Amino acid sequence: MTRILGIETSCDETSAAVLAGTGDAVTLESLVILSQDVHRVFGGVVPEIASRQHLVALGPVIDRALADAGATLATVDAIAVTHAPGLVGALLVGVAAAKGLAMARGLPLVGVHHMEGHLFATSLEHAAAVPPFTALLVSGGHTLLLDVPAWGEYVHLGATRDDAAGEAFDKAAKLLGLPYPGGRHVEALARDGDPARHRFTRPMLRRDQRPGDDDYYDVSFSGLKTAVLGAVRAAGDALEGEKAHIARGFQDALVETLAAKVARAATAHGRTRVVLGGGVACNRALVAAIERACGDDVTVFAPTPRIATDNAAMIARAGLWRFERGERAGLDLACASALPIPGSRPG
Ligand code: KG4
Ligand code: ZN
Repeated sequence: MTRILGIETSCDETSAAVLAGTGDAVTLESLVILSQDVHRVFGGVVPEIASRQHLVALGPVIDRALADAGATLATVDAIAVTHAPGLVGALLVGVAAAKGLAMARGLPLVGVHHMEGHLFATSLEHAAAVPPFTALLVSGGHTLLLDVPAWGEYVHLGATRDDAAGEAFDKAAKLLGLPYPGGRHVEALARDGDPARHRFTRPMLRRDQRPGDDDYYDVSFSGLKTAVLGAVRAAGDALEGEKAHIARGFQDALVETLAAKVARAATAHGRTRVVLGGGVACNRALVAAIERACGDDVTVFAPTPRIATDNAAMIARAGLWRFERGERAGLDLACASALPIPGSRPG
């Protein structure tokens, strides 16, 4: 059994977790997530502020996670830290802290790719959310459709050509005058919306698409954002009464597009499990649309909001898998704003 401390600082959550186990049998012993509220004031994450807040919070967050787990640095076996992708200044804070602790305590260090963390996250809550599966990662910065035959093997099927799904939600929210981050506000508003009122075009989704077409799995959301802008303008003074309908039209178009592409991927690879990750996986309409599109033979696993959004438990989980394979990072572990997931290959 390995007990591993996970550290995550890639964006605007300062998080630490302790996880213990072997293979897919793991226990989450603690998870502390400190969300940086300050960015709400600016309507988006300000990188320099994010780094500074991580610097202030990370030490106490790690101490709290260790204490909650009844652990100390003397009773953990390794440290896993997110080193890419993300805001480099923010990543650096976590990586520097992890290196310092690893060096001081003589502990092995494992570098984790943030998106691989999201792939492992759902298995913390659903024991059956393990490969082989079709994966959809939908966050503020990423929209990725993968086939996962085994942990560490990631077949890249599709991605967004422009805005990430979460980014599209946030931009639509802004156009509708909702707070940042706007995804959950759009979802709440859309519940009262009439689905027939605004039927926006489903981007990159046509019946005549065939496997092998370069837009078969890819998505694009910038046109949808423009459609929302058009609807907002057209509503003019009547916008207040129209908002819920526009939110519904936007959300339906986005989730139906993603659901259709996920169903294509699951069918093409004969998968009976679909695993969702990232903040947008909290969206119940998305989960329901994917369940509908995939049919009864497929089980869709979605994480709860605590595990869907950025957290160190998923980093500890992915780190444990890499640690058990003998992977170790040196003190020269570098941060990167962008990096392919290790083990990924084109579909
Ligand atoms: O994974 P995450 O916490 O952070 C990133 O790595 O980006 O994802 C945050 C994104 C935001 O864009 C937020 O608006 C979106 O997830 N989000 C949602 C919902 N909850 C969070 N989008 C749609 N519906 C939701 N319920
Ligand atoms: Zn994330």
